[in-house]
Amino acid sequence: MESSDPATRETVRGFFDLWSVYDRVLDLDYMSHNDLYAAVGRVLAAHFANRSFSVLDLGCGSGRHLAPVLATLPVHRYEGHDLSGVAIEHARSTFASSKFPVRLCTGDLRDSLTAEGPPVDVVFSGFTLHHLMTEERASVLENVQRRLAPGGLVLWVDSCREEGQSRAAWLDAYCGWIEAEWRGIPPEGLAAIVDHIRECDQPGTVREYSEAAVRAGFAPMREHLRRGWHGVWSCVRPG
Ligand SMILES: C[S@@+](CC[C@H](N)C(=O)[O-])C[C@H]1O[C@@H](n2cnc3c(N)ncnc32)[C@H](O)[C@@H]1O
Repeated sequence: MESSDPATRETVRGFFDLWSVYDRVLDLDYMSHNDLYAAVGRVLAAHFANRSFSVLDLGCGSGRHLAPVLATLPVHRYEGHDLSGVAIEHARSTFASSKFPVRLCTGDLRDSLTAEGPPVDVVFSGFTLHHLMTEERASVLENVQRRLAPGGLVLWVDSCREEGQSRAAWLDAYCGWIEAEWRGIPPEGLAAIVDHIRECDQPGTVREYSEAAVRAGFAPMREHLRRGWHGVWSCVRPG
């Protein structure tokens, strides 16, 4: 599938409406969420020191890993967007006891970037940008740049392809790894995951991200942690 048109968005939404399958992957930490989100916390703490900051989360899901990170930091506002209404309902309970104001919206992350609103200090995205095509990610980075306050940070966790690796080769390697290693997921759950990835995932390479970020006007991209195909990257909007 080569575009994230409305039908593709519906397929992505349909998979994430089956939230329990993804939750089981998180229970077993197959995608290294624990380490990757710990790195997210370190990056935010180092960038803002004791200054308070606002967060816009693109594809927030249930917020299961980001909420505990933000609870330890001086956040003054959080806004999460997700295509899946089921994910947003989970996020409502995850963030229910937050000490900062929370706004949760069901819809396409791109609409949240083009909507009018005050500048934000952090735009975060966890395992979501790989649902977009390369040129769509580049356009998202441009819109993120416009939404960020000077000195603000775009920070994302995601899967990536190796440089020069085709999408087909990446799919075979990644889905092969899942089928071999994710033994705690029942067969029908595993089949749903692999079907979803083969139909919807379009991971970029590190170089693609880095070049798109420079074109969008960011300072050079930094890689904070890699765990296999997964990693944490950030860019600062110059002040
Ligand atoms: C793999 S989950 C990640 C959830 C969470 N951020 C995490 O790191 O665990 C990807 C999420 O992105 C959402 N998503 C995918 N494409 C989206 C889009 N175009 N706009 C908004 N949400 C989207 C899905 O509905 C899903 O909840």
